[in-house]
Amino acid sequence: MSRLVVISNRVARPGTASAGGLAVALQAALEETGGLWFGWSGRIDPNESGRIREEREGRIHYVTVDLSRRDHDDYYNGFANRTLWPLLHFRVDLVDYSRETWAGYRRVNTLFADEVAPLLREDDTIWVHDYHLIPMAELLRERGVDARIGFFLHVPMPSSDLLAALPQHVKLFEGLSSYDLIGFQTERDLERFQDYTRLFGRGRVVSHGVLQTASGRRLRAGAFPISIDTAHIAEQARAAVAKPGVRRLQASLSGRALAIGVDRLDYSKGLPERFRAFERFLQRHPDLRNKLTYLQIAPVSRGEVLEYQHLRNELEQLAGHINGDQAEPDWTPVRYVNRNHPHATLTGFYRMARVGLVTPLRDGMNLVAKEYVAAQDPADPGVLVLSIFAGAARELDGALMVNPYDLDGVADAIAAAMAMPLEERQDRWETMMRHLRTHDITAWRRSFLDALREGVDGMDAAA
Ligand code: G6P
Repeated sequence: MSRLVVISNRVARPGTASAGGLAVALQAALEETGGLWFGWSGRIDPNESGRIREEREGRIHYVTVDLSRRDHDDYYNGFANRTLWPLLHFRVDLVDYSRETWAGYRRVNTLFADEVAPLLREDDTIWVHDYHLIPMAELLRERGVDARIGFFLHVPMPSSDLLAALPQHVKLFEGLSSYDLIGFQTERDLERFQDYTRLFGRGRVVSHGVLQTASGRRLRAGAFPISIDTAHIAEQARAAVAKPGVRRLQASLSGRALAIGVDRLDYSKGLPERFRAFERFLQRHPDLRNKLTYLQIAPVSRGEVLEYQHLRNELEQLAGHINGDQAEPDWTPVRYVNRNHPHATLTGFYRMARVGLVTPLRDGMNLVAKEYVAAQDPADPGVLVLSIFAGAARELDGALMVNPYDLDGVADAIAAAMAMPLEERQDRWETMMRHLRTHDITAWRRSFLDALREGVDGMDAAA
């Protein structure tokens, strides 16, 4: 099988903080064929970009690049996270339209392409990840790279009228036509991209999942819903119950039930709305007041970006307000924690929680929803309250589905989760768990790479 090359902004370099499910899955894929993982080193050089770091572990070669303060500001803090992130999460109101950051985004993508191109072999399979690196295939083709190149978008693909609000949208999204396969999280995302191709992209949808560019080149596009290492998380959660941190949390609840949310501190996650919905729950269901404690873990993310700083202030105020208004001397309704926790501990928290709150305003997939399900005790599973705007809602049909803007609806779903009989909880959980057992992270990366390696032949068969 051909060698795999992964190109992504973040690289799970050996010896860095414990890798998440996606990183472990990519490492496994790279180990299988021997592979190269290329991207940002995670370091900022005060002066200039370009210092290369190389590491090897097992059959994987890691090559990463330092970025200058300016490049990091324009590319990562700027165009990626102040322009593309809000745009792709349907937040046109938050999009920053400045031209300098677009130049920085192009500059860093060009630097990456210049550095990685000489390391590539003709028969490599190249897999580019996420919105930071959309132009990569086009830049590599310009440098003579003929190998198969796939792209996976981890975030949503919004409707084409929203994309058209970006002044550079044609230049940016035309770049996607240099890939051989474009992967999305859900069928909906794929459909919206096909609409964009038809309406703005000067291309043609030959058949569902087969596109033709203005120049006549054909490529595939498909839905590949990302997942988790289901068996591993179930086992981790079972074992985590004995951990001191998990026991301490249990003891601190004094017999009350727990509702849990775990999210990066990001405006796409709908945290202010969730806080307000919990407050509404306390008001609408006085009989359940004092019987449920809500723990929100929200590690600070992209803290240099202004919108994220505003969100942090807003949440601090809201948590203070709700607790000031509702707390009793022996009960604090909202526990709001910015500190991150080891993944194994989190799975223990999930298992203990009667209610899992996953209510983003928009989310490509949301793996916390899947992990919450996988972590449950089959004998006494909790209830997932899930936003209809998370990609995971397409698969996790045993959840209580909510519209995160509808505070009364979310409040009532929390109450329904509290009242739900054991048998119904088990039925709902079993349906979701059956799905997750087969649709796990290994199945995900295999299906994407199989489709990419099948390439044009598979496409012709499908067309
Ligand atoms: C989302 C994005 C990823 C990103 C992650 C963490 O899941 O799709 O590409 O790596 O958030 O964000 P950060 O900015 O810290 O890499």
